[in-house]
Amino acid sequence: MNGQTLGPPLRYNERTIANPVTRASSSAMNVTLREITSDTVHAVIKLSVAPDQQGFVASNAVSLAEALFSDEAWYRAIYADDELVGFVMLSDESLKNEPPAEPNIGLWRLMIDQRHQKRGIGREAMRLVLDYVRSRPGIHYFYTSYVPEPGGPGPFYLGLGFEPNGEVEDGEVIVLYPLHASS
Ligand SMILES: CC(C)(COP(=O)(O)OP(=O)(O)OC[C@H]1O[C@@H](n2cnc3c(N)ncnc32)[C@H](O)[C@@H]1OP(=O)(O)O)[C@@H](O)C(=O)NCCC(=O)NCCS
Repeated sequence: MNGQTLGPPLRYNERTIANPVTRASSSAMNVTLREITSDTVHAVIKLSVAPDQQGFVASNAVSLAEALFSDEAWYRAIYADDELVGFVMLSDESLKNEPPAEPNIGLWRLMIDQRHQKRGIGREAMRLVLDYVRSRPGIHYFYTSYVPEPGGPGPFYLGLGFEPNGEVEDGEVIVLYPLHASS
């Protein structure tokens, strides 16, 4: 999700399917999500995607600046073993000072540094994000959106089990995760 819009999706068709993102990773790497500290923030800002991917996600510097002014922002650095490899940020409405009765969580930003992509780290990080989402009280929807361009992250999200709900906002395809499906 690259744009500024964080409004909840309007439609969601719940279905009973297995949750594919929960399948075991074949990777021997230990992927973790860690809080960003004054010691690590500069390294997080230096992470980058490939030049032809820069239209798909904001820089981490911009994301962290936005987080400063968003009470719903939840963000972590992604590590593979002890190496910093990526960044993830959610819009978690249950963190708002005045949370809505039926809060949603949106995947706001996700990036794996270009040197570490296609090694299963993004999938594993999303498994950990889902653990977080499921730990939050009363979450209604977990959603994201993506730029539907060649080389973009669409196939990644669809492969994880996100499903389009038929809406497109600001040129981005909205997809929902089947959070309440039985596995
Ligand atoms: C999208 C992104 C986070 C995926 O992370 P990753 O660590 O490279 O993904 P993984 O290695 O875990 O891939 C998981 C699966 O998705 C597939 N996949 C990943 N990126 C893909 C892409 N751009 N196009 C097609 N398939 C992709 C992988 O082939 C793999 O498939 P498999 O399970 O069948 O083997 C990463 O490529 C990235 O940071 N891209 C640039 C920024 C971006 O687009 N962020 C999303 C903004 S909405």
